[in-house]
Amino acid sequence: MTTTPAVAVRGLAKAYPGVRALDGVDLDVLPGEVHVLLGENGAGKSTLVKMLSGAIQPDAGGISIGGETVVLGTPHAAQQAGISTVHQELSLVPDLTVAQNLFLGQELVHSGAPFLDSSAMNRRASELLAALGLRLDPEVPVRRLSLAVRQVVEIVRALSRDPRILILDEPTSSLTDREVTELFTRVKQITATGVGVIYISHRLEELAQIADRVTVMRDGRIVAAGLPASTPLPQLVRLMVGREVGQEFPPHRTTHGDVVLKVRNLTIPGRVEDVSFDVHAGEVVGFFGLVGAGRTELLRGLYGLDRSSGTIELAGFRLDGGSPRRSLEHGLALVPEDRHGWGLVLPMSIQDNISLSALDKCTSWGVLRRSRVASLGKRFMAAMRIKARNGTTGVEMLSGGNQQKVVIARTLAAGSQVLLLDEPTRGVDIGAKIEIYELVAALAAEGKAVVVVSSELPEVMGLSDRIFVMRKGRISAEFSHSTATPEALLSAALTHEKGTE
Ligand SMILES: Nc1ncnc2c1ncn2[C@@H]1O[C@H](COP(=O)(O)OP(=O)(O)OP(=O)(O)O)[C@@H](O)[C@H]1O
Ligand SMILES: [Mg+2]
Repeated sequence: MTTTPAVAVRGLAKAYPGVRALDGVDLDVLPGEVHVLLGENGAGKSTLVKMLSGAIQPDAGGISIGGETVVLGTPHAAQQAGISTVHQELSLVPDLTVAQNLFLGQELVHSGAPFLDSSAMNRRASELLAALGLRLDPEVPVRRLSLAVRQVVEIVRALSRDPRILILDEPTSSLTDREVTELFTRVKQITATGVGVIYISHRLEELAQIADRVTVMRDGRIVAAGLPASTPLPQLVRLMVGREVGQEFPPHRTTHGDVVLKVRNLTIPGRVEDVSFDVHAGEVVGFFGLVGAGRTELLRGLYGLDRSSGTIELAGFRLDGGSPRRSLEHGLALVPEDRHGWGLVLPMSIQDNISLSALDKCTSWGVLRRSRVASLGKRFMAAMRIKARNGTTGVEMLSGGNQQKVVIARTLAAGSQVLLLDEPTRGVDIGAKIEIYELVAALAAEGKAVVVVSSELPEVMGLSDRIFVMRKGRISAEFSHSTATPEALLSAALTHEKGTE
């Protein structure tokens, strides 16, 4: 006897000008299984997800749910059919509260009267959030929350709709291990009730914990369907990227140049508390910590996005009290955590975005040279394997991971002396991740200083010459590359060690 799939797709196809985003895709997801979809940036994963959630329509092919053919013409129709989706790009409304977002479109009303029951919604919201380990005031507006917390709220919303099919498109990109564990526990609970789950992630180490079966996509096609979760990782990576990739981190150098970035007593009330450190030329310094430890806020403060007190000195220049513009002029650049905030100019092309911070390199006698814009774009598109027809493609046409690569390329192209990278490999595929590690090492070798914030332990340990751990806005410990161990880093992130400040 064969089980009827919770959802089955046959021959799904979608073309955009110049790209076959999906090219005849078949997929069966069984009730009660976690079906992981793997693929490089731009492979077509989100396109498939958008079809299953009614956001876009296929050019050809069909979808059936529980054996019945369905037409998912709108997001509402998909929800009615029992499909609940966490999209790669978060979709909460910033000006509404957490509770209002959770119940958007399915508000609770007083029994017998057509009034919204806010207190019931707030109460229910608190319960739903607590079930995922999040203690959060349901009446705060979403705009005040960090990216990670927003991501959890988004997951809570999808879970609260009692789906038959749950789709999670990179739900853990902003989360740390603890939150991921909570999420996986919930996912296991709901699969036990027969819900089928489609799970997309570039964090391959999650596979062993969550996957029942794995399907690999490449260039809009399925290259391997329904593999067992025990399939060796190198084999999956080969299927994804179509070539061998090494997992090695570049070698570390132990001698560095002079101090280029000197930070003293940096404080952002309520977020960063009295942080002091130095970064040398040619050095890669990592910041590890749990979500909410203050790492993103620290980088934002350094760059001049948020007001801070204390001093920031870059090669002798005082940057404190400055602005992002001044930071950039003096050679301090930031790759932000949120690539859809001010990270990119979406309607502009890839090459224009990349040259935005490097206009001096693209002008001669004050005139912008289009050919230089094009060649700079071309160089970085190749170095970072940005998947697009060419450099004039609009950034909004790119897949999530390829947009992230453009943000990084833009910062690197500026040629700044000190680079602040907030989760630089979030959402990028394994091949591109390694390219980014190599670029960071190459920049350090040129004498640039790099500050990296990462929630991924192997990454922060593999990249950094020195690691600071933050906890509750303060630096709680410092390690050299040779003294750092996963246990020590985690314990410093969780407990405040005395005498290390
Ligand atoms: N609206 C659009 N217009 C033009 N091209 C698009 C559009 N949406 C997606 N594409 C293209 O379709 C292809 C597949 O994109 P998709 O977002 O499905 O990739 P993905 O596998 O989700 O990648 P990632 O891991 O980066 O999220 C990409 O080449 C992308 O540029
Ligand atoms: Mg995607």
